[in-house]
Amino acid sequence: MSQEFNITVLPGDGIGPEVIREAVKILKIIERKKNLKLNLTEAPVGGAGYEAAGHPLPDDTLKAAQSADAVLLGAVGGPKWETIDFSLRPERALLGLRSSLGLFANLRPAKIFAPLIEASTLKREVVEGLDIMVVRELTGGIYFGEPRGVETLADGTRRGVNTLVYTEPEIERIAKVAFDVAGKRNKNVFSIDKANVLECTGLWREVVTKVHADYQDITLSHMYVDNCAMQLVRNPKQFDVIVTTNMFGDILSDQASMLTGSIGMLPSASLGDGKAAMYEPIHGSAPDIAGQDIANPLATILSVGMMFKYSFNLEGVNTILEKVVDDVLAQGYRTGDIMSKGGKQVGCIAMGDRVAEELEKQL
Ligand code: IPM
Ligand code: MG
Repeated sequence: MSQEFNITVLPGDGIGPEVIREAVKILKIIERKKNLKLNLTEAPVGGAGYEAAGHPLPDDTLKAAQSADAVLLGAVGGPKWETIDFSLRPERALLGLRSSLGLFANLRPAKIFAPLIEASTLKREVVEGLDIMVVRELTGGIYFGEPRGVETLADGTRRGVNTLVYTEPEIERIAKVAFDVAGKRNKNVFSIDKANVLECTGLWREVVTKVHADYQDITLSHMYVDNCAMQLVRNPKQFDVIVTTNMFGDILSDQASMLTGSIGMLPSASLGDGKAAMYEPIHGSAPDIAGQDIANPLATILSVGMMFKYSFNLEGVNTILEKVVDDVLAQGYRTGDIMSKGGKQVGCIAMGDRVAEELEKQL
């Protein structure tokens, strides 16, 4: 009997629907070639959710996400919704999905594709062979801490507050994920904190060190976040796995992505304790280039690969998809964001077609 999986597809806003369309093309090929049954359900999220149901994360969308074997998300946000109430902004949908699905571990691989080395703003010798996995805590920290908000004081001036908070169990579980991931890689973890200033991340350092006692085959180092930002451009190849808090992970993963040439290349997986999981490109909705068929669909396509690896236990599909992307790049095909001299510039749809064609041959 063929395996069956339910996938909730949330295209979202901006270039989201365009890159998702290409990823769905790829899903259909995998379904046929691997003799699977993939049930795709589409639902509105972000600005699209707000337009359709008055909320960035409509109830039906959340239910569809909760009942799925995996969620594939495009991107959310755009200038149209920048002025509406904070609680209704498209970005709240992402945070809502992460917390209600319990997706506390965000895996963001920053791996360089050899044909793209020239697209990196750093020198070849600095980035060649680069392969970093950022493990970002995703449901805690300053993103969710209370109290939060902006209040007006007696003298009429305002005061804005956010709170950085982590409990020991929250730190323990993300540390375990990082050590487990490192165990299947180069067995080297850097835990990033600001323990010299922030007590909360002092606790982070203590707990990560404690968890490490169960992982003696893994090397653990601690690094302050400012130093890490500097080391990422000075000598990024010293890193294998980086584990860090929600906000530091947000920032450092954008930085790590650019080492690989373009943020348009990087996929991500958000995982929890149970089956719930969400896969999305780490780039945003890029409203400035939406609807022009010039977005790079590769990060979303690679997110599909991660889905097969982490949710469906079909790691081989991911391996082949990564190779196919590498081959298409080696043939010279480039979207605008990764264009370099001698490249053959193609649009979003054509790039999806190139990957599809190559996947037909190789899967
Ligand atoms: C990301 C994004 C989100 C985040 C925003 C859009 C809420 O930047 O996934 O990295 O900050 O987590
Ligand atoms: Mg971000």
